[in-house]
Amino acid sequence: NGFFSREMLLKGKKVVVTAGPTRERIDPVRFLTNFSSGKMGYAMAQAAAELGAETILISGPVSLPAPSGVKRIMVESAEDMLQAVKAEYADSDFVIKTAAVADYRPKTLHGQKMKKQEGDASLELERTADILHYLGTQKGRQVLIGFAAETNDVSHYAKSKLDRKNADYIIANDVTESQAGFESDTNKVTIFGKGDFEQSFELLPKQELARQLLKLIVEREMRNDR
Ligand code: CTP
Ligand code: CA
Repeated sequence: NGFFSREMLLKGKKVVVTAGPTRERIDPVRFLTNFSSGKMGYAMAQAAAELGAETILISGPVSLPAPSGVKRIMVESAEDMLQAVKAEYADSDFVIKTAAVADYRPKTLHGQKMKKQEGDASLELERTADILHYLGTQKGRQVLIGFAAETNDVSHYAKSKLDRKNADYIIANDVTESQAGFESDTNKVTIFGKGDFEQSFELLPKQELARQLLKLIVEREMRNDR
């Protein structure tokens, strides 16, 4: 129908979206994670599929159903997510890193449940791989889009992530703003792009925001003749 033929901006394109938190195991019954609900990433994947893209959703542990028309790959840890993204990267056109990847994981994975001891305890951590940074070092034709949740100095941190990770866009939200961020169904973001591009959005339902963000990016990239 006419609506779809005009709106199939991503027909023939491959979009990879990561979503949700990661889990970093401590022992068989415990892990480190964060409050990511996966909603924004799932909304981005649905928006890509609606625009006609071949859409791969690489998801950390969340309880959301897979959007229709999306191929979903479930992963657990940052390392699993890195491997899954690498496997899809070479022939992808847009990579959207909505996932809240854990920055640290326990240095040792205990095979048995750890028993409590008298007194205090501490957990030794090591850095996980920065997936977006890695993709930035391997970038060919792909358009790389990151997300950043910040509590302060949003524009400063978002722009520094854009540079540091060789991303094309960083979509930043101030998670201290009410109704924006993790569990919420709405979000309020500012998108930053190379060459001092910056545009703020109103508070919107995540699904509507995802559509607007993706359209904005795709139309800009088509004008840039990608
Ligand atoms: N990211 C990633 N791999 C990581 C950490 C982050 O791919 N190990 C990606 C996220 O998916 C997101 C972007 O990098 O798209 C920004 O994540 P964020 O946590 O805001 O940035 P960090 O570089 O981890 O910086 P910090 O948490 O210290 O603010
Ligand atoms: Ca981080």
